[in-house]
Amino acid sequence: MDTSALHAQLSLTLKQTDLPSLGQQYRGKVRETYRQGEQLILVTTDRLSAFDHILTTIPFKGEVLNRLSAFWFERTKHICPNHVLDVPDANVTVARACQPFAIEVVVRGYLTGSLWRDYQKGTHTAYGVPFPDGMRKDAAFPEPIITPSTKAEYGQHDEPISEKELLARGLASSRDWARISEAAKGLFLEGQKWARTRGLILVDTKYEFGKVGDTLYVIDEMHTPDSSRYWVADEYDARLARGEDQRMLDKENIRQWLIRERNFSGQGTPPVIPDDVRMDLATKYIAAYERITGTPLALQPGDVHARIERNLRAKGYLK
Ligand SMILES: Nc1ncnc2c1ncn2[C@@H]1O[C@H](COP(=O)(O)OP(=O)(O)O)[C@@H](O)[C@H]1O
Ligand SMILES: [Mg+2]
Repeated sequence: MDTSALHAQLSLTLKQTDLPSLGQQYRGKVRETYRQGEQLILVTTDRLSAFDHILTTIPFKGEVLNRLSAFWFERTKHICPNHVLDVPDANVTVARACQPFAIEVVVRGYLTGSLWRDYQKGTHTAYGVPFPDGMRKDAAFPEPIITPSTKAEYGQHDEPISEKELLARGLASSRDWARISEAAKGLFLEGQKWARTRGLILVDTKYEFGKVGDTLYVIDEMHTPDSSRYWVADEYDARLARGEDQRMLDKENIRQWLIRERNFSGQGTPPVIPDDVRMDLATKYIAAYERITGTPLALQPGDVHARIERNLRAKGYLK
């Protein structure tokens, strides 16, 4: 996509939706959810959140996330059933409303990011997962590990939790936790396998699960650059050997910009994000979509809110 089209979209991004007739609304950091009985209408906005603050909007981000999730849910449905019922618009998923587990199921293949920072401080033991001493930054674990967090209320930080504590607090029964961890590992391995064929490493990701009756569903989003890290595979070994950061196609780009350029990691007033940084991140998200799926993204420039309303009305979700 050329720069002028991206630039034109800066003022047309989807900041929020106001569609009261769509159902009871809940506003998350990134998604607007509307409840219609057993269904949820999940609208992915263009909002960018980092360090638990909503900072700005990124052109086409909602569309990229929603379409990428749809891609991954379809590719992994043989491993675990998911919540998707319909995708009536590039930014919208109609989902089975599930009883969600209040757990962020984080699966990691590599020692990096916050876990690397914990590892250096010695606080990585909070997850109750034993892992090797003397690992270097960005090294691979012998096999993927699960480091669950509690899913905090809005404005609060998610806290690492051990499996033992999670069971003790009743966040899941031991039978459900066993099913959840097995599904999470299966989904992650499938994601890694596919990413490799596309020259990428799926480094880590976060899943959410829910239930309807006794059936377990994977919900929310899947393997997006918001919920996952992706690295460029062919540069991995050389960069690891040199101790350099990996080439990333995900939200870590903006986290590092905030720390480096604005000295911001969540405390105090969030900085203003300049337009060139917004456009640069848009380019990265679009590139991630195209690399992962192997298909060019036919983007839909223009007023996103108006298009969503039109599509939802045409398909009978909006009266
Ligand atoms: N199928 C589903 N059933 C119930 N809840 C869901 C489902 N899919 C997603 N959710 C919830 O909807 C919300 C999506 O909005 P999001 O902006 O991601 O919120 P958050 O700020 O909590 O990350 C999340 O709270 C997520 O847990
Ligand atoms: Mg979320």
